Formats: sequence, structure tokens, C-alpha cells
Amino acid sequence: MSTHIGAKPGEIAERVLMPGDPLRAKWIAETYLEDATCYSTVRGMLGFTGRWNGVEVSVQGSGMGIPSASIYAHELINEYGAKTLIRVGSCGALTEDLQLRDVVAAIGSSTDSNMNRMRFDGLIDYAPVADFGLLRTSVEVAERRGITVHVGPILAADAFYTDRPDLYDTLADYGVLAVEMESAALYTIAARFKARALTLLTVSDHIKTGEKTTAQEREQTFGQMVEIALDTAVT
Ligand code: ADE
Repeated sequence: MSTHIGAKPGEIAERVLMPGDPLRAKWIAETYLEDATCYSTVRGMLGFTGRWNGVEVSVQGSGMGIPSASIYAHELINEYGAKTLIRVGSCGALTEDLQLRDVVAAIGSSTDSNMNRMRFDGLIDYAPVADFGLLRTSVEVAERRGITVHVGPILAADAFYTDRPDLYDTLADYGVLAVEMESAALYTIAARFKARALTLLTVSDHIKTGEKTTAQEREQTFGQMVEIALDTAVT
């Protein structure tokens, strides 16, 4: 096992979906994967491997926020040989161009996290970006399924409860679509260790209008996004 994942070598697939919530990982494995088995329960951060259309896929909870997601991305790639990581999560919309339940594919991720400033000694504002091939495939897959995907930049914030909502408006002025809490880490770590990464999100709450989805709505739209992610992972 690695420090935070209890799998034996070979138990995790090269293609991994990463929801923040470990119970979402369980739900994805039970709902979508054939012959899914649980390979890790360490810290309750569940991980499963099964098959989608005959291809091995794993689903690993990442926890919330950049520090937690960084740990799982790092260990999946460096300890288990993962090559394709697709985050499947939720986001808050920053612009009225988005509506509740819309699907977003994050082309790039700005962040207020200090982790990349430390990586580059505060000298470079590194731009974490999605793998272009995965991004293109996800859009094609969604089109085939008749689902609109909004492709654009997002913010990976350290704080869910912000003291600076005014910054969200400024970011929206610069085209940033939505806020979540993990994508910048996923993109940066994948780039550093030569893996491919993509973040797909559904809009769970609207920062501008204050609207929120119900638990039932979240499950339904989460499912559509998971199907796009699975098709993308095995293409
Ligand atoms: N994930 C879902 N909604 C969010 C929000 N409003 N802020 C940060 N992450 C989120």
C-alpha cells in the first residue's frame, strides 16, 4: 500500500475517476462498473476498481480541497502508475451564463492556493491546464449523448466560505465560469508526473442567484457527468 491508499500493486487501473466524496466513489462503482471491488478503506477514503465497457477503471475518493486531492493524485500516479485522472465533482457558478445542473469541463484552473507559489518560489504564476485530448474527447462524448458541456476556466479556491465574494465577480469579468476546490492541484500534479488530467463538474449552487440543487437533482446530473467521464476515460 501507499501512505494513504490501501491497494496492492496492480489493483488500481491506469484510468481513475476522482470524486471528492468517497461515498460518491462507492455509488459510481456500484451503479456503473462491472465486477467492482473495493481496494482501499484507509481513512474512509474509498477506492474501487471494476470495468466500464470491458475496460478497467478505478474510482478513488479525493477528499475536499487542494491538500487532500494532492495526496491522492500524487500517490495514484507515482505509487500505482495511474495515467489518466478525471475529477468528477460539483461547483458553484460565478456567471449567469451557467444554470444549475449544467456540466462544466475545466480548460484551466486559477487558484488562490499557496501550493503553486511555493513550487515556483513565488516567481511564476503557473497556469494549470487540462489535457487537451481528454478535454476534446469529453466534449465529443457529451455531444453524442446530447448533453451540452460548458468549456472554460474555473477557480480552485482554498476556502468554501469566502470573505471576498467581490473577487468572484472580478473573476467572472475575466471569463471564469465556476468555483470548486481541487482542479488546480490535479492539473499541476498530472503535468509534473506526466499523466493526463481533466476536471468535469456539475453546477450544484449559483453564487450570483443563491439557487441550490436538491440532493435528488444532484444525483441525477452527477450521473450524466459520470457517464461522460467514463466514456472519456476509456476512449
Ligand atoms: N463546490 C460546489 N459549490 C462550491 C462553492 N460554492 N465553492 C467552492 N466549491 C464548491
